[in-house]
Amino acid sequence: MLTIALSKGKLIESALDLFRRAGYPIAGLSAESRRLIFVSPENDMTFLIVRPSDVPTYVEYGGADAGIVGKDVLMEQESDVYEPLDLGFGACRIAVAALQREGAGPRLSPKVRIATKYPRISERYFNARGIPVEIIKLYGSIELAPVVGLADRIVDLVETGSTLKAHDLVEVEVIAKSTARFIVNRASLRLKQEPLMTLIRRLRAVVPSQRLSSGKSRPKALQARKNTMARS
Ligand code: PRP
Repeated sequence: MLTIALSKGKLIESALDLFRRAGYPIAGLSAESRRLIFVSPENDMTFLIVRPSDVPTYVEYGGADAGIVGKDVLMEQESDVYEPLDLGFGACRIAVAALQREGAGPRLSPKVRIATKYPRISERYFNARGIPVEIIKLYGSIELAPVVGLADRIVDLVETGSTLKAHDLVEVEVIAKSTARFIVNRASLRLKQEPLMTLIRRLRAVVPSQRLSSGKSRPKALQARKNTMARS
């Protein structure tokens, strides 16, 4: 039995659709359901529905064998997991944004105040450019911060750009692009190699223009499998 952690919210419908197309129809599990755990005996899988930011934790510590989560979350948390598949959906970017009419009012601090739910990504990005920043960690509705004077700029996800526009904000710089990734617990890949490799192979077959993600080290088992397939 494999345990798979799925991100609730924007990614879940596409994740369920992916499993369906890969030959794992999950009858009874829907994005609207309040159930947090769902056993699917016909697929020999258990699904956990968790907050996106918790998916890497479940997978890294073995609460789940694998999971689906945005690259933005993986970049922020730097979790120790395998990342064998870029699933392509959930495309968005992590961007710096500012009020269209920026710069009003006297500033007491020489540091730029950044509101974000990505403190590590932001810190790394501005440090690398030698820009002193003060990070204000928020958990949502980030676009409000510059509107009420809580921060000078934000670092947040932009998908369609409509939330920025609705708050008179403009994208200043793109830090990174993000898509949903399939991640795997390192020990599970050894202990449950057969079902996991089958799952990865079947998911890969239905992901359009699959490219190996630029994440952490590629699992040796995956490489070995690829070589075997290439020879056969
Ligand atoms: C995300 C993100 C932006 C919005 C961007 O928020 O933080 O607010 O989506 O999407 P758009 O470019 O299509 O407008 P989410 O809906 O996840 O809620 P949150 O504010 O609670 O994080």
